[in-house]
Amino acid sequence: MTSKIKKRLFGFGLYSVACLSLFAQKGGGTATPVYLDENKAIEQRVEDALSRMTLEEKVAMVHAQSNFSSAGCPRLGIPELWMSDGPHGVRAEVLWGNFDWANWTTDSCTAFPALTCLAASFNPDMAYAYGEAIGAEARYRKKDVLLAPGVNIYRSPLNGRNFEYMGEDPYLASRLAVPYIQGVQTNGVAACVKHYALNNQEQWRGSINVVVDDRALHEIYLPAFKASVLEGGTWALMGSYNKYKGQHCCHNDFMLNKILKQDWGFDGAVVSDWSGTHSTDEAATNGLDVEMGTWTDGLKLLGRPFTYNDYFLANPYLKGLKEGKYEVKDLDDKVRRMLRLCFRTNMDRHRPYGSFATPEHADIARKIGEEGIVLLKNDKGFFPIAPGRYSKILVVGENAVRSLTVGGGSSELKVKREISPLQGLKEKYGDDRISYTMGYTSDPSKYNVDSLKQQAIAMAKDAEVVLFIGGLNKDAHQDCEGEDRQIFELPYEQGTLISQLVAYNKNTGVIIISGNGVSMPWLKSVPALMQSWYLGSEAGYATANVVSGEVNPSGKMPFSIPVKLEDNAAHHFGTKAFPGDGTDVVYEEGILVGYRWHDTKKIPALFPFGYGMSYTTFSYGKMATNKKEYGKEDTIELSFTLANDGKCAGAETAQIYVSQSNPLLERPVKELKAFKKVFLDAGERKVVSLSIPVKELAYYDDKKQDWVVDSDQFTLHCGASSTDIKSSVSIQVQ
Ligand code: BGC
Repeated sequence: MTSKIKKRLFGFGLYSVACLSLFAQKGGGTATPVYLDENKAIEQRVEDALSRMTLEEKVAMVHAQSNFSSAGCPRLGIPELWMSDGPHGVRAEVLWGNFDWANWTTDSCTAFPALTCLAASFNPDMAYAYGEAIGAEARYRKKDVLLAPGVNIYRSPLNGRNFEYMGEDPYLASRLAVPYIQGVQTNGVAACVKHYALNNQEQWRGSINVVVDDRALHEIYLPAFKASVLEGGTWALMGSYNKYKGQHCCHNDFMLNKILKQDWGFDGAVVSDWSGTHSTDEAATNGLDVEMGTWTDGLKLLGRPFTYNDYFLANPYLKGLKEGKYEVKDLDDKVRRMLRLCFRTNMDRHRPYGSFATPEHADIARKIGEEGIVLLKNDKGFFPIAPGRYSKILVVGENAVRSLTVGGGSSELKVKREISPLQGLKEKYGDDRISYTMGYTSDPSKYNVDSLKQQAIAMAKDAEVVLFIGGLNKDAHQDCEGEDRQIFELPYEQGTLISQLVAYNKNTGVIIISGNGVSMPWLKSVPALMQSWYLGSEAGYATANVVSGEVNPSGKMPFSIPVKLEDNAAHHFGTKAFPGDGTDVVYEEGILVGYRWHDTKKIPALFPFGYGMSYTTFSYGKMATNKKEYGKEDTIELSFTLANDGKCAGAETAQIYVSQSNPLLERPVKELKAFKKVFLDAGERKVVSLSIPVKELAYYDDKKQDWVVDSDQFTLHCGASSTDIKSSVSIQVQ
């Protein structure tokens, strides 16, 4: 070995390691250091690595060294840790110190459908496939942590980031988050569940203090995180920007130390949201493990350029540690967690290599899209539009052609390809049968709004069928991070346009692409409506397959769409409850979120949670239970027959809701406790079995600060949606 090479290896801390292992191989007797010995348990390796690190090296591990990486320990050969957004694809490479694209040519990914779509699929198998595929893309791109999935609860249809989350029901979000995480992590890439917790709005997200009662916290806002930790085994978790009990959630003693780490036993790393760290004192002790993305805000005030050494958990922390202000045991806890993360990811030499933007991933993306599209209305067999049925099809709307993988904030993607709905439809029906006009624009400075409308109307008159494809578009205030929506209506006068199109051509169907519910004053006049989502790379193919009937729609609404904004629980209580007064936001509705509110308060939704139609019809047999009386440790076994009575294959998601007869505390009229998506050929009938552990019937007793199952009568409802109950059975819990 030349001295030059020796020097370089020394510089990287590898020389001694290399020598030791060579020596060991030659039978020289010196063993591989424990932390590098893959035959040793991870905990032993963590302790060994920790014992070799200097104070400076430890501190270097707990804050960013670039916008998306933290330093490993170069002297010990522990690599830097690379992170990427999430949650719908692996984000484009950005520059070292900011979010500008690095303009690589090798980072164009597969865009998977937005998580609202995954939620609408009600299919945990799809969630696993999603996780496995996006994890493989992350791995291929040499990312160790994927900043995903997002599991915040859909509380208001105005929340700008609902499209990154999985709907209004904690059980649904949990059932999909768990396999997503497991799928990601089979690649040796950590999932990083976000944003923990109560990040249910974008307005004032960096400072708003969420006031929520304990029941709602435990029953509504925490379960998906809890399942992600306890069942999904997530290796990382991201704190949220907002405050809870007056303390920022990225260093919130109660949320992180008490609930996450003590009660749930989380052994992974807590990652701050980017700029979510605000204080060295709190970050040192309150459960944050690595500080990321601290921007120039605060630091700019220093009047000098910001560096990574200025981070709260960098030099200020080191100084405090040296002065004895902060305890090394707290630092050690952080470093242990970061080391564990490394051993699970970038120090696992057996992890797979990953794969990137493959046809297989495109297939998965398309399938999830097909399973997530929700058919909401279908008069007189408007859909499906079989190829050959019409020769003059008019497509109207900007979302038919606009790229919807860009925009929206940190989930924005640079994609290998994106098939637009128009392209998908053209390939399905033939170029000559489809004409297109925009009809409205999101950029009125570039177009004459009135002539766009007039042209659409003129063309509609002449068409056999019109498909309006609009919705929101991930621009600011239109499903976008950092800013909530400002109105519940469709923007850019789309509502007026839809009404006018139907006035001139009754055969007009509507496809809304969005991550949020919108008001639909025009609903009665249109014969057909589909709720679609940001479907990613294969959007056009998924859409065309469902529109044409090649695929039978099977999505169900993962959130309720209210008739009007005030019918939504959060908005019922005025601005105090959403978006708050700039200091606090008070979750006045408590546990009555989404359908729990609509049902309990008897305020019908326009489209209820769990609702979605099919091109075929299903019939439900009467549900039976294995017995009528249960102990608290028992499991309720349920079964019923489900038949496809129509002429085409399809899938139905049967949903089991539970109500309690005489609860000691208020409970919603019913709550989702199980569901199953069942695929049935035309004419096929299956016996569907589901089980619910009795302990799942518990509510959170805020006095006892624990989950309680009362001895009481409970009724199990089997339904095709939260309001379409097919049969019910009562049982007794002793
Ligand atoms: C978002 C996170 C994201 C991070 C990094 C933040 O603004 O809230 O969801 O992972 O940026 O891009």
